[in-house]
Amino acid sequence: MILVTGGAGFIGGNFVLDWLRCNDEPVINLDALTYAGNLESLASIKDDPRHIFVHGDICDRALVDRLLAEHKPRAIVHFAAESHVDRSIHGPGDFVRTNVEGTFTLLEAARAYWTTLEGAAKEAFRFHHVSTDEVYGSLGPNDPAFTETDTYEPNSPYSASKAASDHLVRAWHHTYGLPVTTSNCSNNYGPYHFPEKLIPLMITNALAGKPLPVYGDGQQIRDWLYVTDHCSAIRTILEKGQVGEVYNVGGWNEKPNIEIVHVLCTLLDELKPDVAGSYSRLITYVTDRPGHDRRYAIDARKIERDLGWRPAETFETGIRKTVEWYLANQEWVANVQSGAYRQWLETNYEAR
Ligand code: NAD
Ligand code: TYD
Repeated sequence: MILVTGGAGFIGGNFVLDWLRCNDEPVINLDALTYAGNLESLASIKDDPRHIFVHGDICDRALVDRLLAEHKPRAIVHFAAESHVDRSIHGPGDFVRTNVEGTFTLLEAARAYWTTLEGAAKEAFRFHHVSTDEVYGSLGPNDPAFTETDTYEPNSPYSASKAASDHLVRAWHHTYGLPVTTSNCSNNYGPYHFPEKLIPLMITNALAGKPLPVYGDGQQIRDWLYVTDHCSAIRTILEKGQVGEVYNVGGWNEKPNIEIVHVLCTLLDELKPDVAGSYSRLITYVTDRPGHDRRYAIDARKIERDLGWRPAETFETGIRKTVEWYLANQEWVANVQSGAYRQWLETNYEAR
């Protein structure tokens, strides 16, 4: 079996669902169920004996040790993190704790466990660390896309904490020989995405007739990847990736934020027309995010060349599926919009 951390979040949840669709290997899912963790996303596997959910913190060394000793996983896939840049600006402490200390705790537990393994089990063991393109910093308009050998220049508390975790993972391989792989992926989108991030926030605000808050001039560029393509990239790395290697994962899909918002409005106009007129009437420019990175772009040639991975979805197919999913799953959205989430909206948007 494999141990997944953060498997009740957006990407981890999609990964667990996809994993069990693709094969019968059981998954232990360790998740602290922060505001971003949601067991409703895993409702379809609630009674599936291949899924063992453990409510707990990756910083809890005794718990991680116990899970490893009891279940003897052949791999750890580490998603658990604080993941939202705006939240990291308002409260960086949680990011250092989970992303840095939590990764450190997992690495130490994995190292102790791996040391006890022998022969083929020791040879096969993998620790896969899920990271982000944001560690490379911000690109100028004509810079080439990020490659695996680019220097780290993280600019936000979020990306700095992820960069720190990447460095720990690298060091645990170089110093202790722990068999690690790392992926640095671009912005994901798709089902079960918490509506604090750009795409689900715009869809849910539009449907509620609320303003669509575009930061600054809306010309910041992100490189969008449909979430199940990220999941397939991680499965490919687990299966064929070289120990100690880093793989950049992206969709070759650079788009300015304002274009994304217009695409969403057009799709909603088609799929759920509003009598008041096009949803684009709700677009509202607001004060920019401090230190806002201008452009991210991933050069995903290494994973294609070495491991044969390419995304299956285009932006057009992925974004349509995403809007359709949100329209069909309004109850999921309503249920994550708890009191705590409403308070976040006030903290982030009231003063803009
Ligand atoms: P998310 O915020 O949706 O989910 C994070 C999950 O981790 C939640 O279920 C939460 O409960 C859990 N968690 C948080 N702290 C924990 C702790 N201390 N112990 C155990 N569980 C804890 O995040 P996501 O968007 O699914 O991102 C998953 C991973 O992928 C992160 O490592 C992130 O840095 C990385 N990543 C995300 C994107 C993206 O576009 N979302 C892109 C590239 C990489
Ligand atoms: P986000 O989804 O928070 O991802 P990240 O900051 O990790 O790339 O934001 C994506 C882009 O959208 C980013 O440039 C910030 C911008 N954005 C807005 O313009 N308005 C919003 O309300 C949000 C949440 C993001």
